[in-house]
Amino acid sequence: MFVEVPPVPDLIPEPRYARFTTADECELTDPVLVAPPGTEGAARRLRAELGAATGWELPAPVAGAAHAGRTVIRLALRPEIAGAGAESYEVHVTRDLVLLEGGDPAGLHWAVQTLRQLLGPDAYRRAPAAPDRAWRLPVGDLADGPRFGWRGLMLDVARHFMPKDGVLRYIDLLAAHKLNVLHLHLTDDQGWRVEIKRYPRLTEVGAWRSRSRWGHRASPLWNETPHGGFYTQDDIREIVAYAAERHVRVVPEIDVPGHSQAAIAAYPELGNTDVVDTAALGVWDDWGVCENVLAPTEAVLRFYEGVFEELLELFPAEVSPFVHVGGDECPKAQWRASRAARARIRELGVDGEDGLQAWFIRHFDGWLAERGRRLIGWDEILEGGLAPGAAVSSWRGYAGGIAAAEAGHDVVMCPEQQVYLDHRQAPGEDEPMPIGYVRSLADVYRFEPVPPKLSPEAAAHVLGAQANMWTEVTENQSRVDYQVFPRLAAFAEVVWSRLPKPAERDWAGFEARMTTHYARLDALGVDYRPPGGPLPRQRRPGVLGRPIDGEPPIV
Ligand code: ACM
Repeated sequence: MFVEVPPVPDLIPEPRYARFTTADECELTDPVLVAPPGTEGAARRLRAELGAATGWELPAPVAGAAHAGRTVIRLALRPEIAGAGAESYEVHVTRDLVLLEGGDPAGLHWAVQTLRQLLGPDAYRRAPAAPDRAWRLPVGDLADGPRFGWRGLMLDVARHFMPKDGVLRYIDLLAAHKLNVLHLHLTDDQGWRVEIKRYPRLTEVGAWRSRSRWGHRASPLWNETPHGGFYTQDDIREIVAYAAERHVRVVPEIDVPGHSQAAIAAYPELGNTDVVDTAALGVWDDWGVCENVLAPTEAVLRFYEGVFEELLELFPAEVSPFVHVGGDECPKAQWRASRAARARIRELGVDGEDGLQAWFIRHFDGWLAERGRRLIGWDEILEGGLAPGAAVSSWRGYAGGIAAAEAGHDVVMCPEQQVYLDHRQAPGEDEPMPIGYVRSLADVYRFEPVPPKLSPEAAAHVLGAQANMWTEVTENQSRVDYQVFPRLAAFAEVVWSRLPKPAERDWAGFEARMTTHYARLDALGVDYRPPGGPLPRQRRPGVLGRPIDGEPPIV
């Protein structure tokens, strides 16, 4: 009897095609691994990840040796599969063979991740939980590939620093969900997190703050423990290489010309010295939008060229074709009050303070293009005219992304109303330091990256989407996990799978598959929000957040 399981019940994200039978099985007994040239990366991952969980050594078969009774896992690159799109792959399981085929190395890598899911939650452990257990797979076929090429998560490591091992762990978590972009928000008013050798004070001074507000802005509480940390250049090289091995691209963000108080605290000449005593500024200890922004001078441009020069060395073009320059939330009050800034507006002949901001961003658009990179910035970079090569991260809803895409610019959709994972997951008092809109797992499952009103030509400019995790009220990895999971699993399905329109999506089916996925997250040690609400230790009673009531406009 052939029992079809349509599709394999618990894969997340859901594959494009899967036909499996539970009437026949492949029992994996100490398998051998066939890995021809070109498949070395997938073989390394398979040995490291599945080998750890199962205890298998996965030796290459030796000519003439008896492999009787041992299942074969065979890896292959088959370029025809790439006809279905970049990163496509197939999995074929018979009684004694597991065949993983990628159209390209990335596709093959995702095939390995699918095999891990097919083996069950214990395949996510780092050592065998039960040494003698049998590992079985249903027999069948699967063909899959992503809807979008940009499937990302932004981690704000500036507001609260995430030590390097936490970032590496997040790269593993992204890869387990077939996500392929990690956007690192490396600088902000509250901290500078990347070593720049020619400007040592950026991390000597800018990486440390004396205290932090405990809760959101309305909270009267302070955490008096100093906070800080930064990645050395070798840390960054390690992060980038670790990500590349897992087919994850890293997008570094240096936020200019706003969100810059940490840099100004380190080098006061970067600020508007004719308006504020920048030498008296420390790294900011509060949350919100800060008035202390960069001065619009040639010297500031030269300084940041120096920062970006080192950054381009750390983030090679193959892994990081895009460089994010921020551009968001730059209050213009200091530029309005500054004689030097007003003189600059006249000298450059730009249209007021918005024109100054556009001048700033345009400068780096050209500078990065000359070096073979692409600039990406938050949607405020549309104000005062978009730089010619710029791509846009559309965060204040879809409007910026729509305008940019209609004008022929590439866009990454990350509207705060839908995919800001710092926003609370449920109404009520139990969510820890609740901020923003209520966005449940089901809401994220119904997120649609391409707004229906986009023309087909403009829709082709939507590279994909990313979920953004800001960390003002998440002081450690557990709190980040709580906000990110389980919602990142829904997000992963939205950007990978070809789901129907939001109203027609099979939420019940997804929720059923989540039962197995929670077990995977448990095996991985992810401190997710349980479906029934926070555990007692996950609550933060009495610490004020900043809830936003009511429904935001969608699209
Ligand atoms: C942002 O949320 N300020 C990009």
